[in-house]
Amino acid sequence: MNEAVSRRSFLKRTAAAGAGTTLTRYTPLSAALGAGAAPQVLAATADKPAALGGSPAHRGKFQSWPIYDATEENALREVLHSGNWFRGSGRKVSQFEETYAKLTGAKHCVATANGTSALLASLGGLDVGPGDEVVLPPYTFIATLNVILMNHALPVFVDSDPATFQIDAKKVDGACSKETAAIIPVHLGGNVADLDTLLDVGRRRNVPIVEDACQAPLAEWKGRKVGTWGRTGCFSFQASKNLNSGEGGAVLTADDDLAEKIYAFHNNNRARKVSGYNFSYRGTRGANLRLCEWQGSILLAQLTRLEKHSQTREQNAAYLTKQLKEIPGILPAEMYAGCTRNAYHLYMFRFDSARFGGGLTRAQFVKAMAAEGVPCSGGYTPLNKEGFLKDVLASKAYKRVYPAKTLTQWEERNRCPANDRLCEQAVWFTHPMLLGPRKDMDDIVAAVRKIHAHAAQLAKA
Ligand SMILES: Cc1ncc(COP(=O)(O)O)c(C=O)c1O
Repeated sequence: MNEAVSRRSFLKRTAAAGAGTTLTRYTPLSAALGAGAAPQVLAATADKPAALGGSPAHRGKFQSWPIYDATEENALREVLHSGNWFRGSGRKVSQFEETYAKLTGAKHCVATANGTSALLASLGGLDVGPGDEVVLPPYTFIATLNVILMNHALPVFVDSDPATFQIDAKKVDGACSKETAAIIPVHLGGNVADLDTLLDVGRRRNVPIVEDACQAPLAEWKGRKVGTWGRTGCFSFQASKNLNSGEGGAVLTADDDLAEKIYAFHNNNRARKVSGYNFSYRGTRGANLRLCEWQGSILLAQLTRLEKHSQTREQNAAYLTKQLKEIPGILPAEMYAGCTRNAYHLYMFRFDSARFGGGLTRAQFVKAMAAEGVPCSGGYTPLNKEGFLKDVLASKAYKRVYPAKTLTQWEERNRCPANDRLCEQAVWFTHPMLLGPRKDMDDIVAAVRKIHAHAAQLAKA
């Protein structure tokens, strides 16, 4: 069946079912007709979900990723023929650092091998180590946790704010102690954590904020780019990210001394080269976490599209939100008032099973969406409950550093009930899906509506 016809017939049939009721926008028929009548009427009127034998809401593919053209090809060829493949001999990485600093309004930018290295170099520059506590959200990619554990520091998880999917900033102060050496908020999904509250805690306690902005290039808080608010801001340019060089990362900071420490940390303790070889060592620890010229050149090429892509994502996300929030049980991630720009690395919403007929589960919803040709995922599991953390706390190094009481009480101190629930309800679309035409957004909405209308049947299927 033609998709446009199928969507139109859906609207026509739902309108007919609601005769006598003016539906100016999508109104759940349960509300329009009265809760008791809704399930049967809906089942009879809405288009059939693909999982029940109907035609899929979306045919074909969503936008693929990465996007590239001759710009990238020429950039790579230029590096190839220059013979300068290492940042020490070429100019691409330093050009990228200058460009990214200018774009974000940062004073310094140090490019790194990946986002994990950016976080590691930040903690290294700030001298975080064994015996320190570091605050982080449980709703994040594991790298945010790994860099803490690699320093034999103690992770302290602060519960999530389910409305925004971000760390619940109001709970951060209560989680800090005199051992807190850093707070790592994550701008999850490209949305922005409540920086006002977090920066206030950091200022009062004299604890540095390390922004994990790995998913949030070009996102803004009160008109200023994220990654420039904390002592450092860390970015990832890994293949799935909005700005992509396969692997890559960067640290931003306004602190001159810290910038040099971070540079040395990522360069095996070697300070910036003034001329010729420089074997003057600086800092206490270091590794080779450098980006290379191939990646620098790809990043410069990809940067030419970042702003345009971000605008498309924002427009499509706003359109999606307007429609999806009208469907009962679909709760798109909200933004704090200070978030003036969302990078939409992910389009995130909560799926409330109780508001879908038959108690359709999230797993059933995700499967039914896949049948509609709309891929989505349930996202992260609670990081604070990962089994390997028990092994970490029981390891030789941790037992040597931390009092037994600290380790035995860790689990209780790190409960995050709101996040547990969020992990059960979350659903994500990936950012390339937001780069397609408006029709793709209409197809996504049509898929969710169909599933909502036939939830009870799908729950039994
Ligand atoms: C929130 C967050 N932090 C850190 C990282 C680590 O970045 P990378 O994979 O470039 O090391 C990622 C990337 O996946 C991330 O999403």
